[in-house]
Amino acid sequence: MKNYIKKDEWCIIEKDFHPEYNRVSESLFSIGNGRMGQRGNFEEQYSGDSLQGNYVAGIYYPDKTRVGWWKNGYPEYFAKVLNAPNWIGIDVFVDNDPLDLAQCEVVNFKRVLNMKEGYLKRSFIAKTPGGKDVKVNTRRFLSIVDDDCGVIRFSITPLNFDGKITMIPYIDADVKNEDANYDEKFWDVLEKKAHEQEAYISAKTKKLHFHVCCGMKYEIFRNGHKSDFESEGTVKEKYVAGKTILDCRQGEQIDLVKYTAVLSSLNHKTEDLLEHTRGELEKILAKGYDKLLEEQAWAWKKKWEWSDIEIKGDVAAQQGIRFNIFQLNQTYTGEDARLNIGPKGFTGEKYGGSTYWDTEAYCLPFYLSSAPPEVSRNLLLYRYRHLEKAIENAEKLGFKNGAALYPMVTMNGEECHNEWEITFEEIHRNGAIAHAILDYVNYTGDKDYLIEYGMEVLIAISRFWSQRVNFSEAKQKYVMLGVTGPNEYENNVNNNWYTSKIACWTMQYTMEVIRFVKESNRTRFAEISSKIAFRETDETDRWQEIIDNMYFPKDQEKGIFLQQEGYLDKVIKPVTEIPESEIPINQYWSWDRILRSCYIKQADVLQGMYFFEQEYDEDTIRRNYDFYEPLTVHESSLSPCIHSILAARLRYHDKAYEFYLRTARLDLDDYNNDTSDGCHVTSMAGTWMSVVYGFGGMRIIEGKLHINPFIPGKWQKYDFKILFRGVLLRIDVEGKTVGVRNHSDKEISVFLYGKEQKIGGRASISAFIE
Ligand code: BGC
Repeated sequence: MKNYIKKDEWCIIEKDFHPEYNRVSESLFSIGNGRMGQRGNFEEQYSGDSLQGNYVAGIYYPDKTRVGWWKNGYPEYFAKVLNAPNWIGIDVFVDNDPLDLAQCEVVNFKRVLNMKEGYLKRSFIAKTPGGKDVKVNTRRFLSIVDDDCGVIRFSITPLNFDGKITMIPYIDADVKNEDANYDEKFWDVLEKKAHEQEAYISAKTKKLHFHVCCGMKYEIFRNGHKSDFESEGTVKEKYVAGKTILDCRQGEQIDLVKYTAVLSSLNHKTEDLLEHTRGELEKILAKGYDKLLEEQAWAWKKKWEWSDIEIKGDVAAQQGIRFNIFQLNQTYTGEDARLNIGPKGFTGEKYGGSTYWDTEAYCLPFYLSSAPPEVSRNLLLYRYRHLEKAIENAEKLGFKNGAALYPMVTMNGEECHNEWEITFEEIHRNGAIAHAILDYVNYTGDKDYLIEYGMEVLIAISRFWSQRVNFSEAKQKYVMLGVTGPNEYENNVNNNWYTSKIACWTMQYTMEVIRFVKESNRTRFAEISSKIAFRETDETDRWQEIIDNMYFPKDQEKGIFLQQEGYLDKVIKPVTEIPESEIPINQYWSWDRILRSCYIKQADVLQGMYFFEQEYDEDTIRRNYDFYEPLTVHESSLSPCIHSILAARLRYHDKAYEFYLRTARLDLDDYNNDTSDGCHVTSMAGTWMSVVYGFGGMRIIEGKLHINPFIPGKWQKYDFKILFRGVLLRIDVEGKTVGVRNHSDKEISVFLYGKEQKIGGRASISAFIE
């Protein structure tokens, strides 16, 4: 755990340069706008340790996989989000010395991520090896208004000399991914141009031939005044630049403003890319830096109006939640149903930027609650569009009749992960995709979605479940053999309770949805039935038969569900008995030892208690929580939030708060020593859930909104917002009272501590905390 980030309500601050944590900082100081993202790398050259990262949403590479022992059914490739041409680069020379913080003495260094207005700032004084002192201030942002564009203002002032400052703004397409399986470079450069004060590179990815055009224009200011300057264009194999040498006086501030546009063939015809890039650049240049910055602040203000959570009395908690919300809003804006949310967002290469079950199980509620419904609808449509591929994926594994198995890891609907225990066995992801449909309809009330798209997806998933189980003569029950539950520290187990539970739930829900669609739109029902050759009676009879006769392992004496049939054969000892020095176990123990141990990576039975809480009484939830939590090592970032929500539900308030802090500051404090790879973006949505579902006790039960807040001991106040059925509500919890304000014109009914109350448009209600 690290503790070098300064606490602040709206900013992430690194004071004094910490080169030893530079990769961690680069992850934390990432910026993004849904269309692209950039790690907190320096503009100027840096010869110290760094992970360069600049990613364009939807542009990936199917890197040939590396597995030891090939299994039939494996996909050929592992998709990688690509490190794209570097748009931020500005090399600087002070007389002849390169400005390189690894070679200079650095004083008064400060790096600030301003989350309120959406920009990254840096300031420092560098003493070059030649004894020249310069003061540097930089600011950059990826515009969320002009989302193909990024802007940088790089200011430099000579402090103790008159002399030459050379500035070389460039675009470099000679980039690679650190995680490339065969150390290959993934870009071919097609076209490059460098004129006066302007340059372009068009590049194409190997194999899939995504085209990206990156262009830049720049301006120079002297002491705040726009200045004429000369610039010499340079074109190399995969690189374009402009070089400007400026004679400067001591104390004179030189600002270089670099405007950049990055456009891709995802959104433009290949032949138009260069021209459109030029057009974007002209547009932003005409607006100018100040206006762009102002628009950025305004657009972020709007985002915060929907999504902010304010906490008073605990700066660490406040900074944590805002950082999480900021990263989520930077990663996904919901304008494009082809895009999704990688576990690291745009902050690193790990997990290849691909889509996991994290989106449906963790991220969706955040976007449902804090953005217009189209945003989450697009997340659902993403899976709808992949339905055919999910059916093909299931066919490859031997399933038939339109059964769909969605991939565990994907970019375009195809599976791209090759570990048999995950690829073939971690099938519970199918259930989360089904559950997301319920969540969406619950929040938005948009039942048309079920008619248009939802039912088709649900039938395909239910078909999969009904073929995946088999009838056990010995047990006279249906069983689900050879699975991996959410707890990846047990593989190939039989009857994982959670997987069987979500399978039965999906089939049940599918039947409800079928009834609804039949009643509300017979024609559409007939249309889909014929499209997918649905034999309603036969198929639903089988689903019901499975639901009625599914085997769920439990222990009567302990009153708990068993994570899997053989779980209690293990030696059961709490995590507290593992020596500190052996934690995290995934770094110290052999895989074999982990698999045989009782230790649980992340919520498994408890994931089911969380999803299906309403089916269980409090004692059942408590017994399961009390049994499993002490055996859980939380070595997935997705674990603490679920535990925080359940702890809150059970009124274990201190525990709930402890887990909250662990998820909220997971990256800021580098809890798991892995933030250098990127931030845990999908688990950040879990942090949001810990506040809203955990402390705020929000639930949607039978289409009604319930709120049951408590306030963690340390806090004076917190508030959060919920968008429910088109009504934006703000919940304020302060001291002993809770207030709910309706920010829309429509009346809404809310259950506050179990008592139904109507709140008129623009009106509020309040109550004492119970
Ligand atoms: C977790 C998975 C998760 C993945 C990506 C793994 O460590 O066990 O549940 O989907 O990370 O976040």
